[in-house]
Amino acid sequence: MNEEFEVTPYSVSGDIDYDELVERFGTKKIDDSLMERFARHGPIHPMLRRGIFYSHRDLDWILSEYEKGTGFTLYTGRGPSGPVHIGHTMPWMFAKYLQDTFKAKLWFQLTDDEKFMFYDHLSLEEAKKWAYDNALDIIALGFDPDLTNIFLDTEYIGTMYPTAVRAAKKINFSTIRAVFGFDNSNNIGSIFFTSIQTVPCFLESIAQGRNVPCLIPCGIDQDPHFRVTRDIAEGLGFYKPALVHAKLMPSLGGSEKMSTSTKMNDTIFMTDDEKTAKKKVMNAFTGGRVSVDEQRKEGGDPEICAVYQYNLYHFEPDDTKLAQLHADCKSGKILCGECKARLFEKIWKFLEHHQLEREKAKDKVNDFLIRD
Ligand code: TRP
Repeated sequence: MNEEFEVTPYSVSGDIDYDELVERFGTKKIDDSLMERFARHGPIHPMLRRGIFYSHRDLDWILSEYEKGTGFTLYTGRGPSGPVHIGHTMPWMFAKYLQDTFKAKLWFQLTDDEKFMFYDHLSLEEAKKWAYDNALDIIALGFDPDLTNIFLDTEYIGTMYPTAVRAAKKINFSTIRAVFGFDNSNNIGSIFFTSIQTVPCFLESIAQGRNVPCLIPCGIDQDPHFRVTRDIAEGLGFYKPALVHAKLMPSLGGSEKMSTSTKMNDTIFMTDDEKTAKKKVMNAFTGGRVSVDEQRKEGGDPEICAVYQYNLYHFEPDDTKLAQLHADCKSGKILCGECKARLFEKIWKFLEHHQLEREKAKDKVNDFLIRD
């Protein structure tokens, strides 16, 4: 139907067909039996139940290793190019759920090097500054300091470099060009970079001196990096990392991925004040009709509505209430103004709490950050 969309770590465009993406990438959908296995170990997170984390590689193997008592480590990351927005925090909250449920250690990579190399306008100092700023948002989500290591690439490179060069030696330029869609104009740092994103998959194994399985919760746009990693992992003496992939949270302006760089007003940042956040929510794209009369008669369309999507992704964790909202929208019982106001209340409660925790995080940075 639509062949037009593209998803790579460096370019997301078009109207993404997530089922088709599973085919293209060669991943597996998370099915009911896998979800039942999760249910043996703890609550099923709403993002799993609702198919937001919907695809995986070897997640069944990770659960088997856990059930055998081997355990596993978690790894995720952030490219610090600007402030954190709500969409970024989705995979991180899921990572926290995994950490809490499986008591797993988390390695959190801040790729200041990557963002410097990929963005013309960003200096290395700025990327580093954003890394420290973003670390506050990560810490504020409540990760366990005893089980979480956060690091900037430029500050942990001494530890990572030997493994990065071993990885790099096994990766051909032709692979990188094909996987990421690069051409001759890409700088050579960006060509090398995937080897740096590979290393944290193995940091726990290196630290323990034995092979430890690694699970990466991430947006599905990051999968291409780890396809490369999986191809070389065993050749380096490690397990292939397993992955669990999320759909990309739509922006308030409609279906496309939330982006810091495009439309500021369609994106709610974790540090937005009440007035700013409210304005953004009240201007969101909805599935409403042109007039109140028509909407009362015909109902709205929650499937295309950013406000409904926000409820689905995070802000209405209660399935019964979400189903009610869906029904009330379709029947014309609830109008967009009220629906937005209700969403805003939930968002502001979330942000207010986050901003408090973020202040406290300033005193906790050294409990989380590791350096060479
Ligand atoms: N490249 C990612 C980005 O630009 C950051 C990142 C590094 C990452 N390691 C990761 C994301 C592991 C998910 C999982 O945002």
